[in-house]
Amino acid sequence: MPDQPRRHVIDVIAGDGIGQEVVPAAIRCLDAVSARHGFGIVWRDHDWGSDRYRSDGRMMPADGLDQLADGDAIFLGAVGAPGVPDHVTLWGLLIPIRRAFLQYVNLRPVRILPGVRSPLADPGGLDVVIVRENVEGEYCEAGGRIYAGRPEECAIQEAVFTRTGIERVARFAAELAADRAGLVVSATKSNGMIHSMPFWDEVVSEVIAGYGGVHIEHVLIDALAARAVLKPGSLDVIVASNLFGDILSDLIAALAGSIGLAPSANLNPDRDHPSMFEPVHGSAPDIAGQGIANPVGQIWAGAMMLDHLGETAAAADLVAAFESVLAEGTRTPDLGGSAGTAEFADAVLGRLAPTPVSAYTVPTPAHRDQKGPDWTRPQPPNHGTTGSLLGSSAEQPPKAPHRMQGERNVENLTE
Ligand code: NAD
Ligand code: IPM
Ligand code: MN
Repeated sequence: MPDQPRRHVIDVIAGDGIGQEVVPAAIRCLDAVSARHGFGIVWRDHDWGSDRYRSDGRMMPADGLDQLADGDAIFLGAVGAPGVPDHVTLWGLLIPIRRAFLQYVNLRPVRILPGVRSPLADPGGLDVVIVRENVEGEYCEAGGRIYAGRPEECAIQEAVFTRTGIERVARFAAELAADRAGLVVSATKSNGMIHSMPFWDEVVSEVIAGYGGVHIEHVLIDALAARAVLKPGSLDVIVASNLFGDILSDLIAALAGSIGLAPSANLNPDRDHPSMFEPVHGSAPDIAGQGIANPVGQIWAGAMMLDHLGETAAAADLVAAFESVLAEGTRTPDLGGSAGTAEFADAVLGRLAPTPVSAYTVPTPAHRDQKGPDWTRPQPPNHGTTGSLLGSSAEQPPKAPHRMQGERNVENLTE
């Protein structure tokens, strides 16, 4: 049987607000880089989000998780819209996806990109990866409200920290640190939180002790926030609980220039389920509809997705393309520039002209049988070459992405 071109089936949820702007921009870039590297992406588009909630009373269909289960990965914009309570929006879509697919690591690399100015006087060496616990911790359904409307009305919010949950995220951080500077900084608050954080510290220490050459520093989250601002170069891999990792993500991304730049990978490291790739930022209702959102976080999340799918050369090419656009001065308003979302994406596309590549096959769905590489490192430029992943460059035209019946290109999302 002749080899089939590689293809990846990706579920797309552009969602709300600027998700509807940055996702189509990123998809154009991903389609271009896939053509250049000889593989196809089948986009399965889902119009899930707050508009659907307003019409159907649900953020996604009742069988939404089943619809995502057999894809290779999920590409999410953001959800959240004025007028719909955030806990309804997020617990109706994002958080159930993370949990159902055991995406227990939320990986968030932050570094200063070329041509981008940090608000810090001395960002010296800011190059951090946040490894955020993503399925338990402070985000928890256990609890409730009682005595509604009475003076004694009360809300109880539990947190759940399990040994399994802490161990697996700490192991991921340790392995990452072993390939980087060998230091894991663990965010804690064991002075104020009497049960959960001492347990977190204990288990993290036990895990890291099993990795010779990897050191652990437990830093109280308040002091860690200050250290991120004052000495960002002293940080490398940060392991943090769900809530602490969330807050540090926006802080450190802003220190690197804008939260619009920051990507995020919700990983199921065991590859039993699809992983999900999204920017760190939200739906930004304050700028939605203006066409000025920075698409870099979404594009970079797309590059992380390609790497996860084994398309390492394409991922490196895409990162190099947006870095070179930033370096030559095309920037969106959050970075002090005047480019729009689509204009920025056009500039990236200008660096991703198709080159002849050879096609080859990948066996089973990529999320099931490959170990992910390290997307958190700066990638070398790869323009005009085919990466080692593709083998020798045969003289063949790039393959158009294959689409299954009933599927459409998600560039229609803004219609
Ligand atoms: P936000 O990240 O949407 O916006 C914070 C600020 O950053 C705003 O001023 C916004 O204009 C700016 N910003 C964000 N992304 C940008 C980009 N790509 N380019 C330029 N500027 C950008 O956070 P928020 O305002 O706190 O939340 C808005 C909504 O998004 C809420 O409903 C929230 O719950 C939701 N949210 C969703 C996700 C998600 O779905 N993954 C993540 C975070 C927040
Ligand atoms: C993020 C977001 C979400 C989180 C919200 C929207 C629930 O802020 O992905 O950073 O806190 O996980
Ligand atoms: Mn967040």
